[in-house]
Amino acid sequence: MDIDHDLVQVHGAAAQALGTVAHIGGRIRDRTGRPVSGAVVEIWQCDGQGIYRHPRAPGHERFDGNFQGYGRTVVDSGGAYRFRTLKPVPYLGRTPHIHYAVIVPGAGRFVTQMYVAGEPLNAYDGLLNGIRDPQARRSVIVPLIAADVVEVGALRSTFDIVLTL
Ligand SMILES: [Fe+2]
Repeated sequence: MDIDHDLVQVHGAAAQALGTVAHIGGRIRDRTGRPVSGAVVEIWQCDGQGIYRHPRAPGHERFDGNFQGYGRTVVDSGGAYRFRTLKPVPYLGRTPHIHYAVIVPGAGRFVTQMYVAGEPLNAYDGLLNGIRDPQARRSVIVPLIAADVVEVGALRSTFDIVLTL
């Protein structure tokens, strides 16, 4: 199974995943602002039709086999990570989001979700609005902006994560 940082291109697949490409990167820091070296960043999300890769996911038989669905990478010495994935789309009951897990050897596994600024369903999403602190809620909503200089037709975003180590 392919689990690298490029979710849009599965090793050996003839075609790319269907959807809008999004280059998403950021830094993993601790509360003092120091980069967390050695951190492993995992993401997972549904395909361009809103279907998860999981065999029991609704609509799984239509899952886009050219989409990796999950990726992992290790941060560089500055705590930076990057993924090439898809702009997340909504699925039943959820506004678009990307699941994140950050694993810090010896310190634990931390999970969060990244949301996209301007998505109308953000106002109705139970999990997003379950984050009661407005500042904390804003911190997980990031803009996706045009990034044609990186890749024609693609978007990019920065999602930094501060760990409460
Ligand atoms: Fe989800």
